[in-house]
Amino acid sequence: MEFRSAFCRSALLLVLLVLLPLSASASTKLYIVYMGEKKHDDPSMVTASHHDALTFVIGSKDGAMKSIVYSYKHGFSGFAAMLTESQAEELAKYPGVINVKPNTYGKAHTTRSWDFLGLNYYEKSGLLKDAMYGEDIIIGVVDTGIWPESPSFNDDGYGPVPARWKGVCQTGDAFNITNCNRKIIGARWYSAGATDDMLKGEYMSPRDFHGHGTHTASTIAGGQVWNVSHHQGGLGAGVARGGAPRARVAVYKVCWGVGGNFGDAAVLAAVDDAINDGVDVLSLSLGGPNEIHGTLHAVARGITVVFAGGNDGPTSQSVQNTVPWVITVAAATIDRTFPTTISLGNNEKLLGQSLYYNATVSSIKFHSLVVVDGQSSAINFTGNVVLWPEPYNIRNDTINLLAKEGVKGIIFAQGNTVNVLEILDACNGIMPCAVVDKEIANRIASYATSTSMPVVKVSPAVTVVGNGVLSPRVAGFSSRGPGTKFPGILKPDIAAPGASILAAVGDSYKFMSGTSMACPHVSAVVALLKSVHPDWSPAMIKSAIVTTASVTDRFGMPIQAEGSARKVADPFDFGGGHIEPNKAIDPGLVYDIDPKDYTKFFNCSLDPQEGCKSYMGKLYQLNLPSIAVPDLKDSVIVWRTVTNVGGSEANYKVVVEAPAGVNVVVEPQVITFAKGGSQSATFKVTFTARQRVQGGYTFGSLTWLDDNTHSVRIPVAVRTIIQDFVSDTA
Ligand SMILES: *[C@@H]1O[C@H](CO)[C@@H](O)[C@H](O)[C@H]1NC(C)=O
Ligand SMILES: *[C@@H]1O[C@H](CO)[C@@H](O)[C@H](O)[C@H]1NC(C)=O
Ligand SMILES: *[C@@H]1O[C@H](CO)[C@@H](O)[C@H](O)[C@H]1NC(C)=O
Ligand SMILES: *[C@@H]1O[C@H](CO)[C@@H](O)[C@H](O)[C@H]1NC(C)=O
Ligand SMILES: *[C@@H]1O[C@H](CO)[C@@H](O)[C@H](O)[C@H]1NC(C)=O
Ligand SMILES: *[C@@H]1O[C@H](CO)[C@@H](O)[C@H](O)[C@H]1NC(C)=O
Repeated sequence: MEFRSAFCRSALLLVLLVLLPLSASASTKLYIVYMGEKKHDDPSMVTASHHDALTFVIGSKDGAMKSIVYSYKHGFSGFAAMLTESQAEELAKYPGVINVKPNTYGKAHTTRSWDFLGLNYYEKSGLLKDAMYGEDIIIGVVDTGIWPESPSFNDDGYGPVPARWKGVCQTGDAFNITNCNRKIIGARWYSAGATDDMLKGEYMSPRDFHGHGTHTASTIAGGQVWNVSHHQGGLGAGVARGGAPRARVAVYKVCWGVGGNFGDAAVLAAVDDAINDGVDVLSLSLGGPNEIHGTLHAVARGITVVFAGGNDGPTSQSVQNTVPWVITVAAATIDRTFPTTISLGNNEKLLGQSLYYNATVSSIKFHSLVVVDGQSSAINFTGNVVLWPEPYNIRNDTINLLAKEGVKGIIFAQGNTVNVLEILDACNGIMPCAVVDKEIANRIASYATSTSMPVVKVSPAVTVVGNGVLSPRVAGFSSRGPGTKFPGILKPDIAAPGASILAAVGDSYKFMSGTSMACPHVSAVVALLKSVHPDWSPAMIKSAIVTTASVTDRFGMPIQAEGSARKVADPFDFGGGHIEPNKAIDPGLVYDIDPKDYTKFFNCSLDPQEGCKSYMGKLYQLNLPSIAVPDLKDSVIVWRTVTNVGGSEANYKVVVEAPAGVNVVVEPQVITFAKGGSQSATFKVTFTARQRVQGGYTFGSLTWLDDNTHSVRIPVAVRTIIQDFVSDTA
């Protein structure tokens, strides 16, 4: 039997962090200056052009250097700077500047991600309201179980369990029948096949030992809980709630132990039970090397299945759970950061990121600074703050070991280490820890060598929310396409918030990061859509989410993807883009799929134990809301059918953004729906390679626009090839 690691194991990840040198004066405000496409490949030249623009309006190079806060130089060109109003006005006229907008700050909310997505609890209209907060939608959460005492699952004010519910409440260790209620309406656990190692210390019951399942379930459906924060320490303080706060939760515990491991058999059993129990949505924040084909069974029964795409980014071809009938979710950042001030003895103040809230007065003071350089073995840790280079090779328990050595704080140079968040969290109540990017790390290091008695002070983190935080961005850890099993299917499908998400763990609340946290965001939106459109198939719901997604941020700038070099996000980073729940309610057109088509393409048995043996035909002919042609030699014809779910009279025109090196012709170019006429239409897309190259993928989109507000956009990825089986996925 094969066991796989749930994403919960690697859930605690840190996004690449933004750092800003502090500089402010009373009369200036933070402005964001957008300059469009970057004019140079070399980022330092792009930044130099920002300095030039600023020097022009400020009058001195020195002043320009003091005013700039961020330089956007990787995917596009722009910067943020502290400016007076008249300087901002002057900059707007500077050649190459497209717009200059003041930075604004929003109100802090714990589950910031839902307000960030436009699903404000008190909004008078919109998806959340129309869906009656997910009332009576049943969400199956296949995960590490649940902590039923969490205030997020309080069932006060809930009506009876929906009559169609056929599930059960399985009892066991520390979990009796009273732990199910009108909120947690069912709970099952699957320990068969789990090894002794996995079960060590575990509750043999639906009770959540790990914390991951409680986090994901409360992100989807947690009720409103006031005044919570990360470990109740103040970071991210506000109101916690799920995206579908009135939905009901059905718990399927399949992941066990500190690693949150699971076996296929258990997951299949859970899926099978969930179908029969009567869930509307299945949320699976887990994955492994194998695809869980049994979920087709659920989709064929009208249940939308949502999977996390994996935390193995930014490496290409790392996305998991790539079967076409599920929604595969990438993780993005939100508009919240936790900056911490690092003060050097020379009065320089730098910003890093931290989760340090539990500061003791004795720790917030200047300490001697020592640099760990990986060379010298005799480092004097005692009484000092250390600058730790990458790779850190540091575990969370290293913090305690260092604390025993008398270390007073740690500043980490940013690396691609996956557990930075966990490490930063482990410092709480022990010593201040912060992470900085390499540029800042170099400044600290050069300060340390410039003086005989270098000192540094690390202050507690503060919460910053709002437009000043460039977001969303695809998180560095989020797995990337193309999928390796079915390159004719574009994955991931969609991106949703998954970085530093605050949700319930045990009786408290805690940040976690990962596609595991992004997946429940999509599951909640699915629940709301299902409530508004009970007759929509899983393919229609997925289509509505993908075709209305956003590819630009709130400044109209292209969404970026974090990685070793930041870049403009492409469909292999975020599928259709970043989820826009209030648009998904009214997509105009949808790409529907009869579940039988999946079996036709995949030759799958609906018996989940048998799964899919092989696939035949070209997968890009599946009527998905995306097109991926991995093998374009001369030309390829792809068919798609759209179904009108807007007004019965509509007129759509196509707009194509062709991938580089490829001609794209759509026929017909106009689709008209008339009252009483057919409400679906088929169109033909011909892709022709302009050059014969053994190429990489290039990207584009195909959008149907009506006379109203509907913009039905699908992502397109095409790879031209000369020979089969010679590939370049870059
Ligand atoms: C169930 O557990 C709760 C505490 O979790 C306890 O108060 C209650 O008495 C238990 N009920 C039964 C029937 O064992
Ligand atoms: C929230 O908690 C803080 C202390 O943690 C307390 O001072 C405040 O009164 C609480 N507010 C509410 C609304 O409970
Ligand atoms: C180690 O550093 C501390 C604090 O800076 C200092 O007091 C102590 O003398 C140092 N120990 C040695 C052996 O250098
Ligand atoms: C450190 O990680 C281990 C497992 O990797 C976990 O059991 C432990 O609770 C963590 N400690 C802290 C303080 O987070
Ligand atoms: C802060 O840390 C101290 C240990 O230094 C601990 O006793 C206390 O409970 C912590 N407080 C919070 C809110 O985590
Ligand atoms: C499809 O699967 C069936 C058994 O489930 C098998 O007999 C048949 O040969 C398969 N067809 C193809 C094209 O693989």
